Amino acid sequence: MNNFTFHNPTELLFGKGMIKQLGDRVKKFGNSVLLVTGGGSVKRIGLYDEVIGILNENGIDIHEVSGVKPNPRIDKVREGVKICRENNVDLVLGVGGGSTIDTAKSIAAGVKFDGDPWEMFTMDGEPDKAIPVGAVLTLAATGTEMNGNAVISNLETNEKLAIHTPAVNPRFSILDPVYTCTVPEEHTVYGIVDIAAHVYEQYFSHTPGTPVQDRWAESILITLREESKKVLDNPEDYEARANIMLCGTMALNGLIAMGKETDWASHAIEHELSAFYDIPHGGGLAIIFPNWMKYVMDEGLDKFVQYAVRVFGVSTDDKTDREVALEGIEKTRQWFNEMGAPSRLADYNIGEEKLEIMAESAVSNKELGGYKKLTKDDVYQILKMSL
Ligand code: NZQ
Ligand code: ZN
Repeated sequence: MNNFTFHNPTELLFGKGMIKQLGDRVKKFGNSVLLVTGGGSVKRIGLYDEVIGILNENGIDIHEVSGVKPNPRIDKVREGVKICRENNVDLVLGVGGGSTIDTAKSIAAGVKFDGDPWEMFTMDGEPDKAIPVGAVLTLAATGTEMNGNAVISNLETNEKLAIHTPAVNPRFSILDPVYTCTVPEEHTVYGIVDIAAHVYEQYFSHTPGTPVQDRWAESILITLREESKKVLDNPEDYEARANIMLCGTMALNGLIAMGKETDWASHAIEHELSAFYDIPHGGGLAIIFPNWMKYVMDEGLDKFVQYAVRVFGVSTDDKTDREVALEGIEKTRQWFNEMGAPSRLADYNIGEEKLEIMAESAVSNKELGGYKKLTKDDVYQILKMSL
């Protein structure tokens, strides 16, 4: 195991009715809030009115940015930064899914950034200051509720890039699983795939001596498999929604990456797909990940055997390690397919046209991969396998 420092400053408020704590939490940071929301789901589920009611009761001034789209765009970040500066906003409150909360985080960093907000995403290094962020999460997927990442797209340049800074870790995150009961089936599935993908990016690592981290990761994957069946059978199953929500938070809050090298190549490849074709993040990951697994498994079959045996119960009798590993990968594809996730780029009408330029862009100015270092040609091959 490698040396590590772990510090996660986000306060989690988890469970039914925890929104009642919102006024108290917001007041700790001042009396002026920028409320950031998406395309309308928070209004349809009644959460918007509830949040406005609580903020009003507590005498908080409310400014707003609404209409954040999936694969959130830099223009909403610019709009929010301007409002915050003009009104001396004390806290940016994101209420919605990952796209909304990532926009809130980027605005909070943009307020303290000297320059156009897009430069935070393209410059060397990370922004290190932000005004406080709060989050009310309505979709289990990204882990943004308890991490310092924000991912934003610039459709003019076909780029989807991230910042990573503890400055934007939400100071508090309210997670009421009831809100996630209305997430449409396809987004529920994308969320589950995204959570699994976050685990894979950190699980498939050559760092030796990490049995606790491995078993935490496996427990998230096994729980996800069990609970995904329940939630797809009955979208209002509170306990299943709650468990999936907790899986999402624990998959990307630093816990399972303690003392390990991680990978993140599949995410980088997927971000190219989202940047060029505006497809849902979880949909792209469902297509790419099993192909990445096949492409890199010979770099270390042991981890893939462990995954197949422990997560899917694959038997090792009379089989080579390679056969066991491949069976685990097939079971991964089968699990995604059973949930209704896409399995080929053709499912999004994506052909060969831009594979080369996406491969080039995925490796430009950065090292890609941990389990196997990927060159442009490797990325191209993985994309080609995914057609
Ligand atoms: O826009 P609204 O109307 O709110 O509708 C959203 C959207 O259409 C809807 N939705 C959200 N909560 C709902 C709901 N519909 C009904 N009931 C509810 N309770 O779901 C749709 C998808 O929302 P979105 O926020 O885009 O989904 P998600 O949470 O999966 O976020 C995806 C974004 O996060 C980035 C992805 O790349 C993508 O841009 N990621 C962020 C990460 C992070 N910050 O750590 C890590 C991830 O790997 C990922 O890259
Ligand atoms: Zn992801």
